[in-house]
Amino acid sequence: MSKYIAAIDQGTTSTRCILFNHQGQIVSVGQKEHSQIYPNPGWVEHNPVEIWKNTLEVIALARIQASATSADIAAIGITNQRETTVVWNKRTGRPYYNALVWQDTRTSDLVTQFEKEGGLNRFREKTGLPLSTYFSGLKLKWLLENVTNLREDAEKGEALFGNMDTFLIWHLTGGVQGGIHVTDVSNASRTQLMNLRSLQWDADMLAAYDIPAQMLPEIRSSSEVYGHVTNEILPGVPVAGDLGDQHAALVGQTCFTPGMAKNTYGTGCFLVMNTGGELKTSENGLLSTIAYQFAGQPVQYALEGSVAVTGALVQWVRDNLGLIDKSSDIETLARTVQDNGGAYFVPAFSGLYAPYWRNDARGVIAGLTRYVNKGHIARAVLEATAYQTLDVVRAMEQDSGITLASLRVDGGMVQNQLLMQFQADILNTQVVAPTIAETTALGAAYAAGLAVGYWQNIDELKQNWSVAHTWNPQMEEPQRTNLHKGWQKAVTKSYDWV
Ligand code: G3P
Repeated sequence: MSKYIAAIDQGTTSTRCILFNHQGQIVSVGQKEHSQIYPNPGWVEHNPVEIWKNTLEVIALARIQASATSADIAAIGITNQRETTVVWNKRTGRPYYNALVWQDTRTSDLVTQFEKEGGLNRFREKTGLPLSTYFSGLKLKWLLENVTNLREDAEKGEALFGNMDTFLIWHLTGGVQGGIHVTDVSNASRTQLMNLRSLQWDADMLAAYDIPAQMLPEIRSSSEVYGHVTNEILPGVPVAGDLGDQHAALVGQTCFTPGMAKNTYGTGCFLVMNTGGELKTSENGLLSTIAYQFAGQPVQYALEGSVAVTGALVQWVRDNLGLIDKSSDIETLARTVQDNGGAYFVPAFSGLYAPYWRNDARGVIAGLTRYVNKGHIARAVLEATAYQTLDVVRAMEQDSGITLASLRVDGGMVQNQLLMQFQADILNTQVVAPTIAETTALGAAYAAGLAVGYWQNIDELKQNWSVAHTWNPQMEEPQRTNLHKGWQKAVTKSYDWV
């Protein structure tokens, strides 16, 4: 039997390849960052060609570190930043335009226009999603309306659409020489073009956004052999798993039972709760989405609270304000003070996502006095992540009727002890991190490994999960209530900027 499963995690800031062994432990890691392109305020782009090159490089790095040949690798799973939209030519492989990143707000006029015609929730029943600049459908519409020749090529079946999963699978499985054009149900559920019940592209949505069906990938399960790698990097290895990154983290955290939830602290924060085989609609500003689908099994649904800016705020403080040299310094700076000094930072850089869905919101720092120093700002930055999670958890509890006994967490910011303790305090709930912190890549590996029989069933996967760290709430109720009141007041100050 082959020794490893490879997972490619194509994220917002970097691309990684991780090799896992049968216990779900990390054997080797290759990682490379890519450029963030900001051509106009609110616009965020990635260069898909750079990302494809990085993908090849990181696979090579991970392979070399583990001295692995393709015979050592049973399968590859892909996981990706969701919603980010790319269109490319089937004959040349060339993208028509940079990828429009999920955080990009250039479609806000389209959102307003569609909202005026039928309200923010007009497509929720079919797609589980409100109108927002976040999802792929309107980004694709924008590209079709603004890129020369794209619509004609799309109508002729020459231009292909995909999120980053689709783009990478197409390249890995042959590219211009017959690459396979597929996506999985979890990624498709983020386009606002798939019907959550039929699991097919929805004719009414395509008509509403005027999108030619010919350019869309085939929707498949999250765990099956889609094709084999033709590139010399890993020749013949089956590509057998595909999950949007937040869905992959749910699988990596083995949240297979309805009611189990995880929160991933990355560029943004994404809290996802497995709701089982039945589609649940949200009354409280959450998204209904697909959790995952293993081959031959029914689809599992989820509720999700997406927060656009959390770790990205720390990067902004580092890169745009220069308050810290590296992201991890934010904790040291925050520890120079006892509390936030009355300051609250609402990082509505891309509007506010769940549970507010305010496209008109923009970032604010509220509650400033002469007393506030950079330590308080650092604290407000970290607390913003925890408050945004709190708002989502409360919405999740209302929608599901389930009070979370503990919250499974993962992602880069989990390293931050101050944040995790504050998270437990403000939620008044235990927060738990697993031993294998790379849950996103692990979930993609699990999907691929299940498809090729490397792992037999989910019980085997559950045995790989164990607790590395627990944070227990220590804050008194009056303090918690006061802090949350301050946050809620600050949130209202972020409205009505566009
Ligand atoms: O929906 C966006 C999300 O998938 C991005 O995740 O970890 O790349 O910031 P991440």
